[in-house]
Amino acid sequence: MERDVIIACDFSSAEATLAFLDKFAGESRKPFVKIGMELYYAAGPAIVAELKRRGHKIFLDLKLHDIPNTVKKAMRVLSAFDVDMVNVHAAGTKEMMAAALEGLTREDGTRPLLIAVTQLTSTSQQAMNDQLLIGGSINDCIARYAMNAAEAGLDGVVCSPLEAGLVKKACGENFLTVTPGIRFADSAADDQKRITTPERAREIGSDFIVVGRPITAADDPVAAWRRCVAEFVG
Ligand code: C5P
Repeated sequence: MERDVIIACDFSSAEATLAFLDKFAGESRKPFVKIGMELYYAAGPAIVAELKRRGHKIFLDLKLHDIPNTVKKAMRVLSAFDVDMVNVHAAGTKEMMAAALEGLTREDGTRPLLIAVTQLTSTSQQAMNDQLLIGGSINDCIARYAMNAAEAGLDGVVCSPLEAGLVKKACGENFLTVTPGIRFADSAADDQKRITTPERAREIGSDFIVVGRPITAADDPVAAWRRCVAEFVG
């Protein structure tokens, strides 16, 4: 799948999401969209089916993390949704990630991309060391979690764009990096800490950028999305 901008549709209802996406109706390129926990818990499989019907590629960002058998069975359900990308927490272990992959793979061998979350960008080095009792540097942890994901057969990881280079170094150029924490050079950081621009994310090696508020809260969301695409995809 080629490099793309994924719009984080962080809305609390199907109505708000569809009204937002209606703005893009005249575009020849269909936005790739992310459905996260908020929207999925509010609107369920019906919003996935509707966005699919409208021709959007979909990243279903539910970050599964449970015992391997439970994750495998949940992934079997999600595989029928026919989305393009789903994810799990790498902290669930290689066994859990391999089970997720097994559950996700359809009888004909096809499946969505499966991506692992390494360390959330909201987790600081200090919290990782003091609360999670994981020693060492956060970058070492991210590289190790990414290697675990690669060894389990996954396609890539979610990480900060600033970590995309170290992930590629550890797991190879073909291992995908999906990176939130994107801001235009002239816009607010909001609550994001480790941010960079779409253009810089491309230079560092991100394959997909996940962009929420710089597009959803813009005065002209379509213009903001076009700007992201121009900077990141070219
Ligand atoms: O509005 P903003 O561009 O900050 O949105 C980023 C999106 O990426 C949100 O949906 C957020 O939940 C998600 N995300 C993130 N950091 C992670 C994983 C996911 O910001 N480590």
